[in-house]
Amino acid sequence: MSGHWIAPSILSADFARLGEEVDAVTAAGADLIHFDVMDNHYVPNLTIGPPVCEALHKRGVKVPIDVHLMVRPVDRIVPDFARAGAGFISFHPEASDHVDRTIGLIREHGCRPGLVLNPATPLEWLDYTLEKLDLVLIMSVNPGFGGQQFIPSALEKIAAVRRRIDALGRAVRLEVDGGVKVQNIGACARAGADTFVAGSAIFGSANYAETIRAMRAEITGA
Ligand code: DX5
Ligand code: ZN
Repeated sequence: MSGHWIAPSILSADFARLGEEVDAVTAAGADLIHFDVMDNHYVPNLTIGPPVCEALHKRGVKVPIDVHLMVRPVDRIVPDFARAGAGFISFHPEASDHVDRTIGLIREHGCRPGLVLNPATPLEWLDYTLEKLDLVLIMSVNPGFGGQQFIPSALEKIAAVRRRIDALGRAVRLEVDGGVKVQNIGACARAGADTFVAGSAIFGSANYAETIRAMRAEITGA
């Protein structure tokens, strides 16, 4: 688990052609497929669930599926996503009654656990959890929709989590999600992020490979 990873969010893909879209973005250089799960309860939007994840997995997606759960409750759905081929499973601490239990549950089901911090969620959630996580996801928008504006305070939050991860000395991915574009991905990398979710910036562009290349160039120059 090293290097910089680009994780296109299929929330902005053409759902009528989802398999082809995932193949195209993988061929264009995606390192992960970011899979946004919304329940019209924890967030005010409704998207896709385990059957869609399983369909992509069975299609033979060549990169890990990065499941971002925006659902409440969390635990009920974790085994379903593990069976459906999820690689990472991340959740919001506010949506789980027992955060440590949920992390353990994800691990027991053979997936890599991640914790997601909303713009107003404090870093204290990492106090007793970071050593058990494989990923921390910093939201740079409020969860629920693609195509929102990047919230700049995410950068100092990323920097603070980077310091915590380095002090811990364990491989924990540091992911940023929301409003990430070619124009601000370099700033995210400089702040310490190593995994970059981008939905509209990639799927809204005419050439996925070109956009991912431009993002990598910004990250490398950062
Ligand atoms: C928002 C989702 C994001 C979203 C990002 O709740 O978690 O993954 O798809 O979309 P963009 O990159 O368009 O902000
Ligand atoms: Zn997401």
